Amino acid sequence: SATNGAGAGAAEMVRKKMGSFVGFANLPNQVHRKSVRRGFQFVTMVVGDSGLGKSTLINTLFEHKLYDLNAPRSLANGSSLNGNANGRTIAIESKSADIEENGVRLKLTVVDTPGFGDFVNNDEAWKPIVDNIDSRFDAYLEQENRVNRSKLMDNRVHACIYFIQPTGHSLRPIDIEFMRKLHHKVNLIPVIAKADTLTDDEVVAFKQRVSIFQAFNKVHQRVIVAYFLLSPSTQILNDIAHNQISIFQPPIYDLEDEETIAENEEIQSKVPFAVVGSDTFVTTADGRQVRGRSYPWGTIEVDNEAHCDFIKLRQMLIHTHMEELREYTNDVLYEQYRTQKLLSMGVSQDPSVFKEINPAVKQAEERQLHEAKLTKMEAEMKMVFQQKVQEKESKLKQSEEELYARHREMKDALEKQRYELEERKRRLESGRPPTPDKIGSVSA
Ligand code: GTP
Repeated sequence: SATNGAGAGAAEMVRKKMGSFVGFANLPNQVHRKSVRRGFQFVTMVVGDSGLGKSTLINTLFEHKLYDLNAPRSLANGSSLNGNANGRTIAIESKSADIEENGVRLKLTVVDTPGFGDFVNNDEAWKPIVDNIDSRFDAYLEQENRVNRSKLMDNRVHACIYFIQPTGHSLRPIDIEFMRKLHHKVNLIPVIAKADTLTDDEVVAFKQRVSIFQAFNKVHQRVIVAYFLLSPSTQILNDIAHNQISIFQPPIYDLEDEETIAENEEIQSKVPFAVVGSDTFVTTADGRQVRGRSYPWGTIEVDNEAHCDFIKLRQMLIHTHMEELREYTNDVLYEQYRTQKLLSMGVSQDPSVFKEINPAVKQAEERQLHEAKLTKMEAEMKMVFQQKVQEKESKLKQSEEELYARHREMKDALEKQRYELEERKRRLESGRPPTPDKIGSVSA
């Protein structure tokens, strides 16, 4: 038993090894079987200048001819977006393939973004790419809002391989701009393309120049924040010093297994990965058949860690951290997007109850409240007005009565005076002296 048998008292956890086999140790196998049955979906995006070897690297990574590198390439297939000031087209191309390894099925989708950076005006070259990432989040959100959510197609971008030109100098402003626009939305994995065009020393120096100052991201505890620092002579140093660009790297904290920590540290030390792509086999000087590129002076082997970082990239992307990339996309990147989207649509989140307010209903409610307020004010004003009118009327009535009474008084007084005068007149005529005091009694 895991409790101390105290009944309603606080339960005390006791770690106990089972004496006999109950069966819950089989849970991981159950999860494994279920996942295998369902299959996996993984979407990776490749971003970089045209001709940097994006398609070649994808074919090399998945050992699958997703791109026919010999065929003339069409610019747009599937979703394409117009959007450059000089009228040229940035075409976003997405390709899927169902691949299987040891009975595990993977639906791999590659989102290719050919040709960016080739235009005279590259100001907003990142926009179609960001829009594409957003529209994939939107499509997922729309599925989540459906009544039946049993079959969710996860077409969100789980990783974005960013190809840096092997210039040997430093990052270009357009690279920084791109990464800044993308890093909140995708797991960024920067690679130095066509690393065979640089010597070993040049690769080391280039990596240092594009050096990454690592610090843990306190908020998410997963991605490492990288500051891409340019050489001090570079004009834009000050501009980007404050630009934190989050890139994906295998985590090394919270791990107990020494071997995994060492393995992840080894992968981290290679970032940005200097890669060479080739999906064709060549024969080395010692007669081995390898994937690589042959030159008059020798052969560059793709799958040789002494020649390039391809192995480490593939290990991280596919072998050890594909699930981590999918999880981070779902738990953090998509969650951030979803929260912002719903808030902008007027859906508010109460800590205790999730309360959805349709903007139209909210507006109607506000209008009703406003109208009720107006009606109340109108009624109050009417009441005050009637009260005032009544007061005025009663005042007028009162003063009318007063006037009437005064009028009667004056009339009586005048009448009295008239009798008096007539009495005097009669007395004078009859020769008797007037008796003013008796006028009242005479007239009576
Ligand atoms: P777009 O689709 O036009 O953007 O090109 P991309 O980036 O997909 O490049 P792609 O894979 O078509 O490769 C362009 C050229 O570069 C081809 O001739 C490849 O053989 C060559 N290439 C690809 N990878 C490498 C590499 O690692 N090193 C060298 N030296 N050449 C490469």
